[in-house]
Amino acid sequence: MDEQENQPTNPRVKPGVTTIGELIDSRLSRRGFVAGLGAVAVLPVTGCSPASDGAVADVPQGGPFNFDEITRGLDEMHHLADGYRSDLLVRWGDPLFADSPPFDVFAQTADAQERQFGYNNDFIGYWPLEASPDGRARALLCVNHEYTTTRLMFPGLRGRDVTREECETELAAHGGTIVEIIQNTDGLWEIVIGSPLNRRITTRSTQMEVTGPAAGSSRLQTRDDPTGRMVVGTMNNCAGGITPWGTYLMAEENINGNFLGTLPEGHPEAVNHARYGIPGGWYRWGAHFDRFDISKEPNEPNRFGWVVEVDILDPQSTPKKRTALGRFKHEGAESVVAPDGRVVVYMGDDQRFDYVYKFISKDVYTLGDRDANMNLLDEGTLYVARFDADGTVVWLPIQFGQGPLTPENGFNSQADVLIEARRAADLLGATPMDRPEDVEPHPTKGRVYVMLTNNNQRTEEQVDAANPRASNTVGHIVEIIEPEGDFAATQSRWEILVRCGNPNDPEAGATWNSATSENGWFGSPDNCAIDPNGRLWVSTDGNHVTGAADGLWALATDGAKRGTGQAFFRTPIGAELCGPRFAPDGRTLFVAVQHPGDGRGATFEEPATRWPDFEEGRPPRPSVLAIRHENGEEIGS
Ligand code: FEO
Ligand code: CA
Ligand code: CA
Repeated sequence: MDEQENQPTNPRVKPGVTTIGELIDSRLSRRGFVAGLGAVAVLPVTGCSPASDGAVADVPQGGPFNFDEITRGLDEMHHLADGYRSDLLVRWGDPLFADSPPFDVFAQTADAQERQFGYNNDFIGYWPLEASPDGRARALLCVNHEYTTTRLMFPGLRGRDVTREECETELAAHGGTIVEIIQNTDGLWEIVIGSPLNRRITTRSTQMEVTGPAAGSSRLQTRDDPTGRMVVGTMNNCAGGITPWGTYLMAEENINGNFLGTLPEGHPEAVNHARYGIPGGWYRWGAHFDRFDISKEPNEPNRFGWVVEVDILDPQSTPKKRTALGRFKHEGAESVVAPDGRVVVYMGDDQRFDYVYKFISKDVYTLGDRDANMNLLDEGTLYVARFDADGTVVWLPIQFGQGPLTPENGFNSQADVLIEARRAADLLGATPMDRPEDVEPHPTKGRVYVMLTNNNQRTEEQVDAANPRASNTVGHIVEIIEPEGDFAATQSRWEILVRCGNPNDPEAGATWNSATSENGWFGSPDNCAIDPNGRLWVSTDGNHVTGAADGLWALATDGAKRGTGQAFFRTPIGAELCGPRFAPDGRTLFVAVQHPGDGRGATFEEPATRWPDFEEGRPPRPSVLAIRHENGEEIGS
């Protein structure tokens, strides 16, 4: 996403002035301070997670990486480490069903897009299926389609407005795809067109049910849905998660951009909408569809910004908007089972100066009983993080009636508190962070990795221990240490794993551990994955400010090389890298190349690259790649 579109809305944050001298003083003192915390970093992990119902059960603690890293650069191609191959698995427009029309980029329709792979692939989830009768591995791949890049999708947009049909096609291109994949005897994967489990989920047509404390709230009611319980569609599905019981969590992120219009004077949603940056006005949808015009449907934005749970084994099932997990710009929703069996979902709110959250279920996970787990995310407690300077994380409950979350502050129910989770968190005194992206629990180390992508608007007065740099253009990664591996703890420890950026550039800041190679440093961490060997991999969105393409870095989390990156893959120009997801055997890595060819002035006719097809006159296509070692060995080992 263009960072110009990520403007802070946190009223607690006031602009200030920073001098270079103050910057350097602060950086040095913060560095010394955080170093002191290292002594308390290593905690015993006694509470390993119960195995999930899927294939990932025993994740080792992690280890070194073994590959020759790629060199920095930026061009029209993607690149990956020597000895590896990448194969195109599925592209925007590829048919998914037996009746899908072939992709015709010059004659796009919403109906066709509903039957084809959507735009701007982001999150990738993997759920193993039984092997085929001839012994080939099968799985479901769950892929989010975060947003549409209108000027790269449609021809001839210069000098004219987007049509209603094009807007409707965009509504069909958002959402997600569930697609069966099968592995051939040569190790290569392909999608199974027409699998009965294949499904498109869209903004345009997929009926969703609202569940949890905010279901039925008057603030969710519209002319189309006077019950406040049924919503058409999900959108801006950025990252997400796969639960231990095999459902797909789709996180709704930058929903503000899809709305137009002005609220009626004195409307009660004015403060709420302002806190979420609504209306963002990035798309023309509201010009053609009343529900995206807040002057006509002031409550429609309250029906988005949630985490959606999808039963991937039943393509007829109704996805559920789980309101207990709060409403904000959800980057992702990665879950883990705590030692006592409760389910914990970690989430970031991707806005400058917004927060890190976790949800803890009331009831416990039952291994092997899928039905018993299907509504675990409807009851529990949502917490927001306060990162104290002494290295403590205090998880503050967002609970109606507690502390400031009362009628005096405009909250009359738990529904109100969840709909306005950001304002509730403001009042509780959560720590404003440098754009929280993926928040990933390591299932056996009791640690949680928080990607803080960047925040070039933090001033020196706004620097704090967990966000230690003003004008943080390259981001950092915070590690949360859950006590005794208890993910359900309400008090944790934290420290900085890495300050991103060139370790040799004092103005840019430095990686925490400077023992890194020329290629190993990066900026703007966004998504991440833990491989079956317990090792962390980080993908970036905005690394171009460092002069190199976005991509994937293996990142050491322990030992002398802690905080050291190693470049494995880089995207074509204009793209960020999303996904990433390892198959349970560690021998395939799925990555999502999002918005290839985008950039200032890029259009359908003149993109920055025509990757991956390179057909003259046709635009680039966001695509998922499957990466394998040429000899079929484990990736990075
Ligand atoms: Fe959609 Fe936070 O990146
Ligand atoms: Ca992201
Ligand atoms: Ca992103």
